[in-house]
Parts: sequence; C-alpha cells; structure tokens
Amino acid sequence: MAEVIIVSNEDEAGRIYADCTAQLIKSKPDCVLGLATGSSPLAAYKALAAKVKAEGIDVSRVRGFALDEYAGLDPNHPQSYRSTINRTVVEPLGMNPDLVRVPNGNLDTIATAGREYDAAIEAAGGVDLQILGIGTDGHIGFNEPGSSLASGTRIKTLTEQTRIDNARFFEDDVNKVPTHCITQGIGTILKARQLVLLAFGAGKAEAVAETVEGGISSFCPASALQLHPHATVIVDEAAASRL
Ligand code: GLP
Repeated sequence: MAEVIIVSNEDEAGRIYADCTAQLIKSKPDCVLGLATGSSPLAAYKALAAKVKAEGIDVSRVRGFALDEYAGLDPNHPQSYRSTINRTVVEPLGMNPDLVRVPNGNLDTIATAGREYDAAIEAAGGVDLQILGIGTDGHIGFNEPGSSLASGTRIKTLTEQTRIDNARFFEDDVNKVPTHCITQGIGTILKARQLVLLAFGAGKAEAVAETVEGGISSFCPASALQLHPHATVIVDEAAASRL
C-alpha cells in the first residue's frame, strides 16, 4: 500500500520532494533521478532548485531518465519532453545535460528505442527516486488504461482524453498534439527504488482514489503503485477528496 501524505498546497509537496531528493544527492552524488513532465512536478523542481542553490549541493554528477516523449516530434520543439525537461529541471538545477536521457521519439528508430532505453537505465544501476504525475484517467508516464503492468519502455497510442488534456501545450488545438508516444512501461517504473506521485486539484480526485484504494488493475495504471514497496502519494485536499 502506498503511503499517502495530504498537504495544503503544491509548495508544501514540493518541499517534501526537495528534502528527500537533496538528502539522496548528498548521500549519493551520482544518483539517478527519474524525471517527469506535466504541471504537477513543477513546484517540486522549483523547491529542489532553490535548495540546491541555498545549500550549494553539487549536482554535477546526478543522472536523470525522463519517463516519456512524444513520437515524431522534433526534440527541439518547445513542447517536446526533451525541451520541457531541460527547461524545468536540467537548467534550473544546473545538472549536466549529457547525463540526462529522454526516450527517443524518432519514428525511424522507435521500434528498438524502448529496449535500448530500459537497458540504459539498468546499466546506470536503476532509478533511485522516480517522481510521477498522474493523468485524469490514472495514467503514469504515458501508460494509458489497459497498459500491461509488466510493460517495458515502448511506443503507445495516446488516448483522446490525454490529447485533449495536453492540447493546452499545443495552442489549444488537439490536432496539433501528437498521436503517439514512447513511454517507460509500468514494469520499468516499478523497478525504481522509490516512487513519489504528486497530484493536485479536484480533477485528479477520482484517479487518486482508484490508485490508492481501488483494486490493482491495468485500467488504472497508477494502481500498480500498490505493488511497490516504497511508494508515496502526495496530494492536496482537493485531490484527496474521494479518499
Ligand atoms: C502527461 C504526462 C504525464 C503526466 C500527466 C499529467 O500525460 N505524460 O507524465 O503525469 O501529463 O500532467 P499534469 O501534471 O500537467 O496534470
């Protein structure tokens, strides 16, 4: 069962993540952080960047693996997850960008890119701490409902709901949102030594309730957190309202 922490706002959640991550970096300067996009982790990254700066923590050897990437979108596109991770995490923290990997969404190589990505995570010794957001339908990474709980990194089709949810990053035009992605599998995510899932707002309440109190099912991919020995779910009152 995942541990649930109810906080009053995103900043408080961010401070919890930042304290935990800063401690990890101090004890293991070449630790491996699992990184996520979306709005949910932003306050956490901000809090961590502030702490790193204030305490002069050396992050030059910290490594990172992102969860997912759009398929067929130029990595230099401002909404690619490569660009997003650079902008929201790598640059504010002052990480070495060469030590941070994002799945390769290039359509020419996507059939083998997933296996290579999982092999790279293993070769790095595995992810120490994975931060996660959650989709309104319970997806983690881009593992939409129905995804195998044992899945590895692979190409997936985005659901209509996720494309609608993400249209805000593409000039509010759902037609501009890519149709496919490459995402770490649920099996990949579960291999991380620690998971921290962040969810805020009433829109996430149902997904959070299914995640924490529902049966473990591929129809709520985040419910796989119940299988993990060290998973923490940090939510505000609104996201906790159906618990
Ligand atoms: C996208 C990402 C997920 C993220 C989700 C929720 O689909 N692939 O990793 O958790 O959005 O985003 P937000 O945190 O903005 O609600």
